Amino acid sequence: MWEKQILLLPGPTQVPPRVMRAMAAQQINHRGPEAKELLFEITEGVKKVFQTTNDVFILTASGTGGMEAAVSNIICPGDKVLIVSNGSFGERFVQICRAFGADVEVIEYEWGKPINPDDVAFHLEKDKGHLIKAVFLQHNETSTGVLNDVKAVSEARGNHPALLVVDAISGLAAADLQVDNWDLDIVISGSQKAFMIPPGLTALSVSERAWEMVEKATASRFYFDLRLAKKFYEKGQTPFTPALSLMFGLKESLKIILEEGLENIFKRHEMYKNMVWAAAEALNLEMLAPRWAASPAVSAIKVPPGLSDKDIVNRLLEDYNVVIAKGQGKLSGKIIRIGHLGYVDGLDLLAGITALEITLYRLGYDIEIGAGVHAAEEVLRRGG
Ligand SMILES: Cc1ncc(COP(=O)(O)O)c(C=O)c1O
Repeated sequence: MWEKQILLLPGPTQVPPRVMRAMAAQQINHRGPEAKELLFEITEGVKKVFQTTNDVFILTASGTGGMEAAVSNIICPGDKVLIVSNGSFGERFVQICRAFGADVEVIEYEWGKPINPDDVAFHLEKDKGHLIKAVFLQHNETSTGVLNDVKAVSEARGNHPALLVVDAISGLAAADLQVDNWDLDIVISGSQKAFMIPPGLTALSVSERAWEMVEKATASRFYFDLRLAKKFYEKGQTPFTPALSLMFGLKESLKIILEEGLENIFKRHEMYKNMVWAAAEALNLEMLAPRWAASPAVSAIKVPPGLSDKDIVNRLLEDYNVVIAKGQGKLSGKIIRIGHLGYVDGLDLLAGITALEITLYRLGYDIEIGAGVHAAEEVLRRGG
C-alpha cells in the first residue's frame, strides 16, 4: 500500500514535516539545562494558545490523563460536582469523577445537541448552599461535532463559586477559547489534535481559585499531582521523565501556530467546517449537529438510510487510503465523522470529499457525482 494517506480523523491528526524533523533529535538530559530551557519555552508558548497567564503544566499522558489530573486534583471524596454532558467525552468525565468518589449530578443532552447555558444557571441557582464544587464540560464534543458555548456557560455561573473545568482537548487551537477573559479555572488540551504533534502530551491551565482547591483536595493522586508538577516546574523540571521527543515537536508546532496566528487558524478551521457542510448539503446528507453549534474541528454526518458506516469507512480506506472516523458509543453505526483540524489543508479536504462522494455513489447512494466537491470548492475559492 502507498504510504501516502489522507488522515481526516478528529485526532490523531497529521504531523507537519517540520515537527517530525524536530522530533527526530537526539535525547537530552531531562534534568539538564537544555531541558529546562525547552520546558520553559513550550510552557510559555502553550499559555499563548490557551490565552492565559495562569499556570500551565505539560504532562506526559494522553488527553484522558489530563482529565484525570483535573478531577483528582480538586476533588475530596463525597464532593458534589455538576457534569454537563452532550456526548461520549462528557460521559468520560462522569466515569472519572465517580472513580474519584465524587457525588455526580449530570445535566445530560441528546448526543448532537449543544449545551444550554440556562440549564447550568438553573442548577447552580438551586444550589443555595454552594455544595457543587465544580462544573465540567467539553469545549468541542468530538463524538458529535458540537462546539459548546463555553463563555456562556462560564457566565451562567453567576455568583456561584463552583470551578469551571473545560475539556478543550479537541477544540483548542481550532476554535477560540480564552481562558483568562472567559474566567475558566482548569482547561485541558491534548497534543494529537490541533497542536499537530503525536499523542502523548496533555497540558492543563490552573487558575488561582483552582489552586486553592488543589491544595485542599484529598482524593488519591500521585503521578498527576499538580502540587508536585508546580514544585518541579520551579526548577525547570517535571517530576517524572517527560516525553522529550514530543516536547521537541511541541516547540516546533508552537512556532508554526504562532507564526500563523490564532485568528487565522480559527478562520481556516471555520472554512473547513463550511466546506464539509456545503458538500453535505449538495449531496443531501444530513448533519448531526445544528449548524449554529457546528464544530470547526470535526463534522458528524448521519449515515444515509440503507448504507452502513463500516462500508463507507472501509471502502474509503481500501479504495482511496482516506481515513475518517465512525461514531462512538450510542452513535455507533449512525454517523461518520470527518476530522478537519490541525495540519490539514483545503485540498486534503477536497480529496477526502471526492473520495466520499465516489464511495457513496458506488455503495448505491443516489447522488450527482461532483456536486459535493463543487460546493466545497466554492467555499475554498471564497476563502471561507
Ligand atoms: C474532547 C475529547 N476529550 C477527551 C479525549 C480523550 O483523549 P485521549 O484519547 O488522548 O485520552 C478526546 C480524544 O479524542 C477528546 O476528543
